[in-house]
Amino acid sequence: MGYTLNHLLDIESTPVAALEDILDTAQSLIDDSADHRDRLRGRLQVNLFYEPSTRTRVSFEVAARRLGMDVVNVAAVGSSVAKGESLIDTYRTLEAMQPDVIVLRHPDNGVHATLASTGACLVNAGDGSRAHPSQALLDVLTLRQHQPDLARLRVLVAGDLHHSRVTRSGVALMKKLGVGEIRLAAPPGLEADAKVTEGTRTYDRLDEALDGVDVIMMLRVQRERLSGIDVPDSESYHRAWGLTPARLAMAAPNAIVMHPGPMNRGVEIASAVADGPQSVITRQVNNGVFVRMAVLLRLLEAR
Ligand code: CP
Repeated sequence: MGYTLNHLLDIESTPVAALEDILDTAQSLIDDSADHRDRLRGRLQVNLFYEPSTRTRVSFEVAARRLGMDVVNVAAVGSSVAKGESLIDTYRTLEAMQPDVIVLRHPDNGVHATLASTGACLVNAGDGSRAHPSQALLDVLTLRQHQPDLARLRVLVAGDLHHSRVTRSGVALMKKLGVGEIRLAAPPGLEADAKVTEGTRTYDRLDEALDGVDVIMMLRVQRERLSGIDVPDSESYHRAWGLTPARLAMAAPNAIVMHPGPMNRGVEIASAVADGPQSVITRQVNNGVFVRMAVLLRLLEAR
């Protein structure tokens, strides 16, 4: 394989060869209809989620089961976290039960690097506003299915970039793999930081940013993370920043529409677009299962 992969913490710390291998493996899992349940049979995955999740948690579980693994789900509510146990104590307690992999989502930036050990493989299922590497991988797999030559793509990411771990990991991966043009558009106060915008084109109006793009990735406003930022009400936001059929017509004729979910219909995206023929939002979800299978295979198959 030519690389070592003990954990998946973020895109930046993962070798390009590993990222490409995960994408290629995911696509070959999609293309064949074989039964893969013998590949990781009897291995154990623990899902430890301190924040709500539908797509990431369930697709990691589906991925593990399709590889024959056993899965234990631990939600912070209902565990000893509610009695004041720290993250490190909770993590080491679970690790002492010798799972092969722990999939962790946590609201604080950077916690995964402090936990990763020589014990279980650790997969970052989202930390604060910092990183969501498996989401970035499934998004880029979706881009590759639309245009295998990433250098030919113009991709727009629009919405609340400031609080978005999807943006940070997604833009990092698109840069690493050579996407032709990355455009970032955000309302005032919700712009990405300089590390993310470096090497991209930035916009403060959606209409200008949409001109001729091949891919539009819409993001919701993360109202649970706003502090002191004045964001317009949903109706006003939709008027200025919502992806409507009229706005979609400004993009390239065969442009695809993506959204990592959860969506706020009628806010950042109109239902007519989310459910329309150019939307690949459900394909992203489906790709998520195969990307997570590929992550598990690359972490565990050689161990
Ligand atoms: N895209 C994403 O992370 O969705 P969930 O919060 O439902 O996992």
